[in-house]
Amino acid sequence: MPLAKALAAQLLALALVAAAGRAGLLPGDGLWPAAIAQGLGAAGMAALLRAERWWLPIHLSFVPALLAATQLALNPLWYLAAFVVMALVYWSTFRTRVPLFLSNRQTVAVVAQHLDAQPSGVLLDIGSGTGSLLRPLARSHAGWRFVGIESAPLPHWLAGLMASGQGNLTLERGDFFARDWGEFDIVYAFLSPVPMPRVWEKARREMKPGALLLSNSFPVPDVEPVRIEPVADRRGTHLYVYRPRLGKRRKGR
Ligand SMILES: C[S@@+](CC[C@H](N)C(=O)[O-])C[C@H]1O[C@@H](n2cnc3c(N)ncnc32)[C@H](O)[C@@H]1O
Repeated sequence: MPLAKALAAQLLALALVAAAGRAGLLPGDGLWPAAIAQGLGAAGMAALLRAERWWLPIHLSFVPALLAATQLALNPLWYLAAFVVMALVYWSTFRTRVPLFLSNRQTVAVVAQHLDAQPSGVLLDIGSGTGSLLRPLARSHAGWRFVGIESAPLPHWLAGLMASGQGNLTLERGDFFARDWGEFDIVYAFLSPVPMPRVWEKARREMKPGALLLSNSFPVPDVEPVRIEPVADRRGTHLYVYRPRLGKRRKGR
């Protein structure tokens, strides 16, 4: 749906600008007035279609940026290379609505406190990226086992490269929704607001009694966490702590 809206906004603005150009309504010569008018039109259309606000600057600058790029006269292979790298990093972000960003050291330290509470256990990182969380934890907590599941090829490959020799860390490539979560003591998520309701339903269904779901930054909508733990970093991160087998819906929902 967001993709269809984006396409509609761009194409409608393009059609309007083409019609305005034929009617001689665009000021000045050359392509820039048309590109700027198209950007303004596309942003306006997107607003009318109630696209999320962060789409507006993208619509505003998309065609002007294309025009600027053609004037750089770069070898087209650079664009192909950039596209391939982006595709390998972001892979199915258009479907999952979860981009790649990494857990920081301060968050790793807060998660580590949960592991300190017992000498051994198994932790799953759903969407493990480059292993920023798992690699330091696997080094500091030798009694624990760590599993990461990542769908995007390049972060998964980099994680494997950097984790070589860490025997208590397993990295799998695939969809974490397709994996059973029943064996894990802790499931860690750093995703986006979009998948959290589905993550919660799966955690409630499959996680064992007493197991923890830790969500970095994104709470489960309408569910009271057991605790919210502040992380001492500059972005003011919060870690939402849930026990899915005990979780209660908020009153009135
Ligand atoms: C925000 S990153 C977090 C990376 C890592 N967990 C960390 O904390 O540093 C989220 C990752 O989840 C991956 N992802 C999103 N949905 C997924 C799915 N259904 N199955 C596997 N990986 C997924 C994305 O490709 C992305 O790399």
